[in-house]
Amino acid sequence: MIKIAPSIIASDFTRLGEQAQEAVAGGADWLHLDVMDGHFVPNITFGPLVVKAVRSVTDITLDIHLMIEQPERYLEEFAHAGANRMTVHVETCPHLHRTVQQIKELGCRAGVTLNPATPLSVLTEILPEVDLVLVMSVNPGFGGQSYIPASTAKIARLRAMLDAIGSPAELEVDGGINVETIAEAAQAGVSVVVAGSAVFRGEASIGENIRQLREACDC
Ligand code: DX5
Ligand code: ZN
Repeated sequence: MIKIAPSIIASDFTRLGEQAQEAVAGGADWLHLDVMDGHFVPNITFGPLVVKAVRSVTDITLDIHLMIEQPERYLEEFAHAGANRMTVHVETCPHLHRTVQQIKELGCRAGVTLNPATPLSVLTEILPEVDLVLVMSVNPGFGGQSYIPASTAKIARLRAMLDAIGSPAELEVDGGINVETIAEAAQAGVSVVVAGSAVFRGEASIGENIRQLREACDC
């Protein structure tokens, strides 16, 4: 079964608590929270305050995507705010092994992620240490972008790398996932999909959107 992690950046922030609860009631497995600092990515979103607010309305797994420079400076704050999983960009972590250890020492699951042009080879040494690898299928910074088709082959290659070492790590994909793209990502080997616009935007309800995503990949 593929896990679905709605990205709250696409939700109606005037009703964030309700939208989070509606996503949980509608069958979400995790909630994905995109932290952006305006430096590593051009957009600015939110910090531990919003993580704490979402934590206060649900006990679902909070999957924090840190699109920030020097994430090691903020890991403790996000952990105390209620993060269950924290994913850092390899492009922002010169001491990646230490950062992954720090996330685990805080009691969170540790994830690493890479931008579309970053090769999987950067993961070779850290792969046995991580609980999750996130493949960015858009250039990070904004929701509502189109899925980069080359992501599917990258997912399949990463699935083979994880299987080759017998890793139980989650393989998550993030960006442009909708009813047209979820099936190929699932077939390529993801275990978790992030979906922002596909869940929170459009005419149908959040629960119906989640149902349609599952139906589209029979997952
Ligand atoms: C982009 C974020 C994604 C994005 C997903 O930088 O990491 O999580 O919010 O939104 P959609 O599903 O609309 O592409
Ligand atoms: Zn994200």
